[in-house]
Amino acid sequence: MSSDLMNTNFMNTTVVILAAGLGTRMRSKRAKVLHRAGGLTLVEHVAAAAAAVAPRERIIAVTGHQAEEVEAILQPYGIGFVRQLGQKGTGHALAACRERLKNLDGLLMVLYGDTPLLSPRTLERLRDLQSTSGTAATLITTTLEDPSGYGRVILNDKGDVTAIVEEKAATPQQKSIRLINSGIYCFQAPLLWRHVVELRPNAASGELYLTDMAEILTRHGHRVGALHIEDPDELLGINTRVELADADRVLRERKCRELMLAGVTVERPETVTIDMHVQVGVDTIVEPFTRLLGSTEIGEECRIGAGAILESSMVADRVVVAPYTLVANSRIESGAQVGPFARLRMDAQVGADARVGNFVELKKTKLGKGAKSQHLAYLGDSEIGAGSNIGAGTITCNYDGEHKHQTRIGEHAFIGSNSTLVAPVEIGANSYVGAGSVITDNVPPEALALGRARQVVKPGWVKKGRKKEAAPVISKDGAKDGK
Ligand code: UD1
Ligand code: CA
Repeated sequence: MSSDLMNTNFMNTTVVILAAGLGTRMRSKRAKVLHRAGGLTLVEHVAAAAAAVAPRERIIAVTGHQAEEVEAILQPYGIGFVRQLGQKGTGHALAACRERLKNLDGLLMVLYGDTPLLSPRTLERLRDLQSTSGTAATLITTTLEDPSGYGRVILNDKGDVTAIVEEKAATPQQKSIRLINSGIYCFQAPLLWRHVVELRPNAASGELYLTDMAEILTRHGHRVGALHIEDPDELLGINTRVELADADRVLRERKCRELMLAGVTVERPETVTIDMHVQVGVDTIVEPFTRLLGSTEIGEECRIGAGAILESSMVADRVVVAPYTLVANSRIESGAQVGPFARLRMDAQVGADARVGNFVELKKTKLGKGAKSQHLAYLGDSEIGAGSNIGAGTITCNYDGEHKHQTRIGEHAFIGSNSTLVAPVEIGANSYVGAGSVITDNVPPEALALGRARQVVKPGWVKKGRKKEAAPVISKDGAKDGK
């Protein structure tokens, strides 16, 4: 098909996404379409696929259960919404759009909000087939080893669809049909809106089934076509948490594959969890059991160590994130090394070539270029100048029980091990803080600050003085034996 024609089809297509149901089989308080697979809600995957086949202003999501939340999640996709009042079935959900859409000519595609694996390519095929087939509608079908839970598709001898039978209503013979309804349809819009009013409540459930449209259109002498898809993965409808896990696995596999083909090494990809929107640069190595989440962006030639978890964070080029490091909403500049077992949370910024070692926690803290904090420290609400060295066990006391306070450390300062910096406090550039100090007052540049008790040494104490100075012995009944 020419790209001109595809473009015309794009402009003439309206998409309705049904996303109003609760999803009883999920056994959840959350609406089904708000559950996540591949790091996005189910309905977001569908909205993203829809945006490939129609203009955003012609995409409508039907909402009902937790409508506000579903609409908020979909807001960034720039689509419209129709509320379904009372969830009386898929046919009822589509009919809710009739007033809003009945005057729009062209094609009308219907998608279910619980099929997150759909590829835009497949939707394009459906749309473009419907635009030339002359049928009233086309639906996507596939053949499943185990078709249970899906509607079964009945074909006539010409291969046209004459009916869809829901599992609950199927006779044993119909149940043995393995050709299933994916729930993805493309209609000639005017025919759909003319006949959708003929849907009648299902005898067993009292719901309006969209699937009955096949029979209604056939009865009016129209043809309904089937587009058979070989890869049934794409059509997986999520009804239970078991299927949710299946979809998640497929999406993660796809993401890893995409990254590997783009030049990222992923070791043991089946153990790695990478969200859909994550970006990773070429020649970066992602080790087993890592999780790269949210809007995380990783540069080139990095190494992300085993078990590391990075969420909505920016990592520049040639960074090493050693194993079992947690990074959230933070930024690591090029050449820096963090971890193993480090934690950067909430607005931590690690400068170029800086080092953050094991059991070091950074919060709202900027560690300057080339600065080091290699072991066992808490650095919160602080700004640490380039080239400074923060000794093992350093703690910024940033909280007085009511308010948070800032610690500022100048460039090339040396903070001795086990220092306690009581904020608000400033340590000037090139200064030294002696190990074990408690620093409560500002230290000017180029100074040495000692904030600890002077050491006392008593020569010969063991032989001479021990008896005299021996600590009081506590007797068994708890009374002091005061010799
Ligand atoms: C539906 C089809 C079935 C098909 C299967 C494919 C019907 C009657 N059956 O069954 O033939 O094989 O999908 O996955 O259509 N929804 C609403 N409002 C409602 C009811 C549902 O918006 O009143 C939405 C749900 O949020 C969901 C979608 O429609 O996203 C599908 O509903 P669901 O109950 O999952 O349909 P299935 O039983 O899976
Ligand atoms: Ca379903």
